[in-house]
Amino acid sequence: MHVHRAERLWLMFAVAMMAVFFAVITVAALVDGMIPPSRLQSIDPTRVSQTPPFDKPGLHKIADHVYEAYYVAHIFAFDPATIAVPAGSRVTFFVTSADVMHGFSIPETGVNTAVEPGWVSSVAHTFTTPGTFLLICNEYCGSGHQLMAAKVVVR
Ligand code: CUA
Repeated sequence: MHVHRAERLWLMFAVAMMAVFFAVITVAALVDGMIPPSRLQSIDPTRVSQTPPFDKPGLHKIADHVYEAYYVAHIFAFDPATIAVPAGSRVTFFVTSADVMHGFSIPETGVNTAVEPGWVSSVAHTFTTPGTFLLICNEYCGSGHQLMAAKVVVR
């Protein structure tokens, strides 16, 4: 069978790319342990409800327009369900899971992280425009995944 030279080159390129992707996944899994990039801290996923500050999830004011928000993700909700901050606030989100892997995403912002049981993920965002932002789970986590959402209200 005759394979055109350009096609053979293209095939070699595609196979090489697959080898590179596979190597990246292997290194991430074996060397980096596939943990969230923020790598803040670990937590016992069976004791989230007894571990401060996740025993009392919610919004904490640090200074004017500076907040920390502690979230527990579980099937199929986020706790707290709603937080409200004034426009111009910088909010640092700390999120952990009490059960399976979830996502934590606020579309239209840069907020998007995986939430893995055993780890605390962290992401920060400055909310400049007032409005109600939908916070969603973007990692399939079970039969109620599509119901898993919360709200960030910016006044
Ligand atoms: Cu939690 Cu999907």
